[in-house]
Amino acid sequence: MISDTLKQKLKEKGQFPYGKRDRAYQSIAGEPGIRDMNHRFKVMNFPKSFDGETVIDFGCSAGAICLEAKKRGAKRVVGLDYKSETIDVAKSLARELNLDIEFYTFNIDDGIHHLKQIIGEDKFDHVFALAIWAHCDENKLADMINHYTDKICWFEGHNAYTYGDTKSKMDTELEKLLDLPYHEYLGETSDRSVRQNYKISRSNRVEMTKKEEFIYYSGDVFNTINESNYDFKEKLPGGAHLIGQNTYVEGKYNFNGKYSCYFADYKNDFGIKVINLNIWTDDIEYSNLSYKREIVEKIFKIQKILSDGGFAPEPHQIVDCHDSQTFHYGISMENLKGKFVQPSEEWIKDLVLFCDKNNISREGWSIEQDCVPKNCIEVNGKTYMVDIDYRWNIDK
Ligand SMILES: C[S@@+](CC[C@H](N)C(=O)[O-])C[C@H]1O[C@@H](n2cnc3c(N)ncnc32)[C@H](O)[C@@H]1O
Repeated sequence: MISDTLKQKLKEKGQFPYGKRDRAYQSIAGEPGIRDMNHRFKVMNFPKSFDGETVIDFGCSAGAICLEAKKRGAKRVVGLDYKSETIDVAKSLARELNLDIEFYTFNIDDGIHHLKQIIGEDKFDHVFALAIWAHCDENKLADMINHYTDKICWFEGHNAYTYGDTKSKMDTELEKLLDLPYHEYLGETSDRSVRQNYKISRSNRVEMTKKEEFIYYSGDVFNTINESNYDFKEKLPGGAHLIGQNTYVEGKYNFNGKYSCYFADYKNDFGIKVINLNIWTDDIEYSNLSYKREIVEKIFKIQKILSDGGFAPEPHQIVDCHDSQTFHYGISMENLKGKFVQPSEEWIKDLVLFCDKNNISREGWSIEQDCVPKNCIEVNGKTYMVDIDYRWNIDK
């Protein structure tokens, strides 16, 4: 709830274009706006959580995006708009709603050099550039998006009729202006005029679907499945219950553990294992980006040691991935094209010994119990542990 004085101020000074309307541009704090933010959030599939993430909004108006991102857990939120009266409203809203947000009066046309002096050079996980590019120098805006986007830029165009922002024009222009490789079209907002929306990113999108089927890596979108078709807690350690089930099909090189999923194309010599800590919230209630990073670095380290010992595929590097709601980290690694097998007693003994020597252990159940067909594959007569998940540990 905001005060009546602020409601009035929002109505008068939160407008765009200025002084022409009877209400603010954005609907905020229960007050109506020319733009219906709930409709926009729906089209964008606006993240439910920004936990521990950083957000910047270019041409933020009275701050609807910033306020919402902060409410949803963002760590740092910056809003920029060249209209000082509107920024004043945004600041008052943040104050009354008790949200810690940095709002600055800033003209995009002043360029990135000036901006760096105000907010610094750190990149942001989410960059918003909604209904702004026709109002400023698009090359200067593009410089800022290119520099400040660490992961995703959310982009909305303008009315096709007035500004010529048709989808095909936007596709071409965005590709030309931005150095972010992955363009995902989100659809049209239609609350005011029809506008095109995009999610443009540096990372691969992973679809954490719950379908019981294998879908392969193709192009820049990875799809996977989760083992949602059974209650994991009731089952045997290490997925032993899967033996004999027709879950793994020869020739299809996927595995899906509870906390990690692997995708690869048979033709590729590398695949990506995504460490997925969000889905089973009953086990991990809360996982922010730095926690996820820490976990994936631990897994990488363990996998590297196992790979040096000949027990696991070689990990190459940690990569960014995201689904429609949150970011993940993955490990790009050697794509071993084998069959899931039950490892021999001898191999298991060797692995356990090797792990003991290297201070590697597993929480929940033993390494030995993890040696089941779901986790192990055979290539040219050699066995490898492929599903090293967050429960594997190494003593420091
Ligand atoms: C159409 S509104 C969009 C507001 C908000 N991004 C949204 O989509 O809800 C454009 C906003 O950009 C701001 N703006 C226009 N030109 C600008 C510039 N050169 N630098 C910074 N802000 C600008 C305006 O003051 C206005 O708040």
